[in-house]
Amino acid sequence: MKPVKVGLLGLGTVGTGVVRIVEGHQEDLQSQVGSPIVIEKILVQNKAKSRSISIDSSKLTEDPWEIISNPDIDVIVEVMGGIGSTKEYIMEALSRGKHVVTANKDLMALHGPEILAKAQEHGCDVYYEASVAGGIPIIRTLVEGFSSDRITKIMGIVNGTTNYILSKMSMEGASYGDVLKEAQDLGYAEADPTSDVEGLDAARKMTILSTLGFRAKVALEDVSVQGMSNVTREDILYAKRLGYTVKLLGIAERQDDQFSISVQPTMVKNSHPIASVNGVYNAVYVYGEAVGETMFYGPGAGELPTATSIVSDLVAVVKNLKLGVNGKQGLLTYKEKKLKTDEQ
Ligand code: NDP
Ligand code: HSE
Repeated sequence: MKPVKVGLLGLGTVGTGVVRIVEGHQEDLQSQVGSPIVIEKILVQNKAKSRSISIDSSKLTEDPWEIISNPDIDVIVEVMGGIGSTKEYIMEALSRGKHVVTANKDLMALHGPEILAKAQEHGCDVYYEASVAGGIPIIRTLVEGFSSDRITKIMGIVNGTTNYILSKMSMEGASYGDVLKEAQDLGYAEADPTSDVEGLDAARKMTILSTLGFRAKVALEDVSVQGMSNVTREDILYAKRLGYTVKLLGIAERQDDQFSISVQPTMVKNSHPIASVNGVYNAVYVYGEAVGETMFYGPGAGELPTATSIVSDLVAVVKNLKLGVNGKQGLLTYKEKKLKTDEQ
């Protein structure tokens, strides 16, 4: 039972959760994959920083190449965030035959096709369940669960930070600034929370969901984006009086081969189940021509929920390793997209 060795890039909110789950659920994980899963080395920015978990300091490194060029490491788990050097590390790891699990929606929304092509070239897996809706297995659901159907609508709350803020403003009358600070302290917000509140994080997630759900070449610039930083308590109260709740919604629709994708603050009728999704919770509504209406609900951010998705991806990679089928899940053939314009 040769252990599977993992190089972890990042030990912040999500990385800490990954360590906790890999250590805490080791017996269950082993029973599924038949080998121990060992976190061999962890990349951080500052080794001297105090951590909320105890870690053998010899595992920490500030040098990414100690992980990427280590021939003993089978899988890279990327939870450091960012785009520039992070993409370089991932591409280099794939070139060296290492499989990748990532929570990085910024990277997958912008460079997903290039990364997946590199993985294919080197017979590697790239899994990214945690990149959308934290603990909800929505990517697997779209790719595998609905492989038989033709999805025509994907709609939902896909950013936990803004839903936390809007819920607290609505239910407790809290101030925008105070609740944003709380969301940051709880580890929900991005390193730069502008991408949460201005809708870019949700737009990245809608790019990923639309690409997979519609099997189409959707790019981030195809999503029209409006954030929620201008939504006031008065707006929320006014909507409430009319029987609506304000949510930052991602809405992707397809009519034949034409798509429209947007992120914007939306008044949702209180009778719709999405209106009662509160706090850091996300919900994704999926309409398929055959299945009809479905909805998936769960925590959209945070240490352990997000790490659950990461470690499930890790299990999938290790199962593929055992079966010798990494990088062989089959290529999706993506349609050329046509965006629906206002005139149509
Ligand atoms: P954090 O900021 O909490 O952690 C980032 C970690 O990466 C830290 O350990 C930091 O080191 C390390 N790091 C960052 N940059 C570098 C660098 N250049 N070189 C070496 N180490 C680096 O981020 P999160 O855990 O919140 O998020 C990680 C990723 O997961 C992001 O892509 C995010 O979008 C995504 N994500 C986050 C969710 C959440 O709920 N937080 C949910 C879903 C996805 P050090 O500790 O020394 O500072
Ligand atoms: N900042 C993101 C959110 C993290 O609040 O949803 C999860 O992707």
